[in-house]
Amino acid sequence: MIANGENASSGNGLSPFDAEMLLQCGVDVITSGNHIWKKNDIKAFLDSNNKVLRPANYPSLCPGNGYTVMDSNGFRILVVNLMGTVYMESLACPFDTLEGILRREEGNYDLSVIDFHAEATSEKLALAYEFDGRVTAVVGTHTHVQTADARVLPKGTAFITDLGMCGPVDGILGVRKEEVISKFRTKMPVRFAAASGSILLCGAVIESNNNAKVSIEAIQMDL
Ligand SMILES: [Fe+2]
Repeated sequence: MIANGENASSGNGLSPFDAEMLLQCGVDVITSGNHIWKKNDIKAFLDSNNKVLRPANYPSLCPGNGYTVMDSNGFRILVVNLMGTVYMESLACPFDTLEGILRREEGNYDLSVIDFHAEATSEKLALAYEFDGRVTAVVGTHTHVQTADARVLPKGTAFITDLGMCGPVDGILGVRKEEVISKFRTKMPVRFAAASGSILLCGAVIESNNNAKVSIEAIQMDL
């Protein structure tokens, strides 16, 4: 079970306490994105825990790791976290970064899952098609809204543009709608707070028979 946890803590970001809680709940690897640096004490935690990732294309001076190989029922699963560069931080090229990781880890894994944390749908599709047949799955995160395009690409890679959010439905990307509307209408700074109410869990279930047959199903569950 892989979960993007970049906004799992109050406000946004991920605290070590909340990361430990997610791991204890059964998450095997936590990926992240642009908000991973929000909580100060996560930096040392990222260096000491290889189950919590930050995007691999951040500069090498940044703490933490951008990928890991986890063991799951005898399968070695390479989990890579990447960030897009369109409308986001100008990080290293995610395509080049992934090429390098696949080359470095060749022979060390059986299946591979890429969390591509990106804004632009075109960038997510481009990366997925470029690595189609070379990785088990490319799944997008960051936009919070699940897309209706879960499918297996022509060469066998499972793909969805965005997995969607796990969080309150009656808000705007998890935030209280009143504050977000006020920001749009006044253009003045506002303090965001998490919305309340019923929670929707979004994600996808990917099945792979050692890469021979891959399937992907988007899921949404009321909690
Ligand atoms: Fe993000």
